[in-house]
Order: sequence, then structure tokens, then C-alpha cells
Amino acid sequence: MILSLDNCIALVTGANGGIGAATCTALAEAGATVLAADLSGADSLPAGAHHGYTLDVTDPDQWDRVVADITQRFGHLDILVNNAGVDRIERFEDITLDSWRHTQSINVDGVFLGTQKTLPLLKAAAPRRRGGASVISLSSIAGFVGADFNSAYCASKGAVRLLTKALALEFSSLGYSVRINCVCPGGVDTGMVDDIFQRYVDLGVVESAQVAYDLSARSHALGRMAQPAEIAAGVRFLASDEASYMHGAELLLDGGYTAR
Ligand SMILES: NC(=O)c1ccc[n+]([C@@H]2O[C@H](COP(=O)([O-])OP(=O)(O)OC[C@H]3O[C@@H](n4cnc5c(N)ncnc54)[C@H](O)[C@@H]3O)[C@@H](O)[C@H]2O)c1
Repeated sequence: MILSLDNCIALVTGANGGIGAATCTALAEAGATVLAADLSGADSLPAGAHHGYTLDVTDPDQWDRVVADITQRFGHLDILVNNAGVDRIERFEDITLDSWRHTQSINVDGVFLGTQKTLPLLKAAAPRRRGGASVISLSSIAGFVGADFNSAYCASKGAVRLLTKALALEFSSLGYSVRINCVCPGGVDTGMVDDIFQRYVDLGVVESAQVAYDLSARSHALGRMAQPAEIAAGVRFLASDEASYMHGAELLLDGGYTAR
């Protein structure tokens, strides 16, 4: 196999969700030792994961504990996947400041904290690999184009895109061999979209979740939403030395959604 992550240590946040679990499996299949982190921790590890952490990505103290443990066990981290995220479908006029901050704290602060807290471990890993260490954050097509009733999420995913670009430039200016990129999926068949479609029903935008699902599927040129493994494959590519010249980029995995 050309795309090998043998001898790599990878940390995936939001690992119990659809894309997170698929990413753990994809990275492990390529040979990585996968550390899976989520709110509810290590009870049932995603397939392929070697170790679990209980981690709320918004909590700096919890990050410190995870980083201390990885430092003690391995001394470095080759791959960080900032995957944890939430999407609350709300009318803009109804979004409370608490709700707005909830979305930004997980989707943006979580990426900020994860990248900053693990940076010493990523820098320690960098000389071990041709392509250096690799950070991959989950943005979205909602970081490219707007979506109604989804303003807080769109703002957060746009922030992830530009944070990625700013850090790519800064890491290179500072001579760090740490590549940083984001992936931007279209609709992916996970628990997140099930919740979203139900919210559209609750808001009276569509008559049923099935109608919302079908409308969403048809808005992708391929006529369907992605399976989590199709997004995980993109994450695995960015994590590997095969992507050694990708830095500050966004990998659109959207079935042609933004091609129009
Ligand atoms: N599903 C989609 O259509 C889609 C599209 C584009 C981008 N994304 C992004 O992909 C990522 C994963 O989404 P998914 O579809 O797998 O969602 P999901 O709801 O299946 O999984 C999200 C996971 O994040 C975890 N999480 C939530 N808050 C957390 C916190 N504070 N700390 C740690 N973990 C936390 C949840 O427990 C859950 O396991 C998200 O960032 C999402 O925004 C999803």
C-alpha cells in the first residue's frame, strides 16, 4: 500500500460520531495507532481505535490532560483530526447568545484549542515524516456557501477554513514542519443530518424529514449524500505523506454541491 500511516500516532476528536468513527477506522486501516476522543470517552471505541479519551474540546484543562497522557505514552503526535462539531438549525432571529456561543465554542474554539494544545507534540513528530505532521479540521460546504436557518454553523465553518489558511502561513513562517488543511464535506449520512432534517420539519420548512433528505440528496450533483467512509478517505489522504504538498488547502468532498 502506498498510502501508509505505519508508525503514526493519530488523535481524532468527536470520534463516536459518524465521520469521526469512520476516520478512526480509515486511519487504523492505513497502519496508524488511533486515539479516539469524545464527550463520552472510551466505553465503546470506534472500530480500529486503540485508546479512548473523554474530551470536551471546549475545555482547556481536559486538553491538557489528554496532551500530558499522549506525551507520556508516545512523546509525539503525527496526526490531529479536529472533527468534533455541532449544527443547530435555528431561525436567525431566535438564536440566543448562549446558543450562538455554544456552536462557536465547539466548532471554532475546539479547533483553536486542539491545534494549539497539541502543537508541541506535532512539532516533535514532524522530523519523523517526509510530509511532516498533519492537522486536518472539519469545515464544510457551509464554510463556502450560505445555508438558510444555519447562520451560526456557516459562520463557524467559514472560521475553520480561514483559521486553517492563517495557521498554514504562520507555521511555515516559523519553520514548523506541520501541514494543516481542512476537509469540506457536503451532506454526509450521519446522526447530525438526521437531527438537522427533523429541525427543518419542526420549523415548518418541509413536511417531513424524508422530504428534507431527498431535497438534500438532489442538491448534490451526484444525487446523493456521502457515506462517512468517503469523507474519512479524504482525511486519510491529507494525513499521509501522499499529501506532502497540501498545506493551507480545503479539500471539497461534496458530490458536486458547489460545482454549480
Ligand atoms: N454530516 C454532515 O453532513 C457534515 C457535513 C459537513 C461537515 N460536517 C462536520 O463533520 C464533523 C463530524 O460530523 P458528523 O456528521 O460525524 O456528526 P455527528 O453528530 O455524527 O458526530 C459529532 C461528534 O462530535 C461529538 N462532540 C460534540 N460536541 C463535542 C465536544 N464539545 N467535545 C468533543 N466531542 C464533541 C459528538 O459527541 C459526536 O460524537 C463536524 O465537525 C461536522 O460539522 C458534517
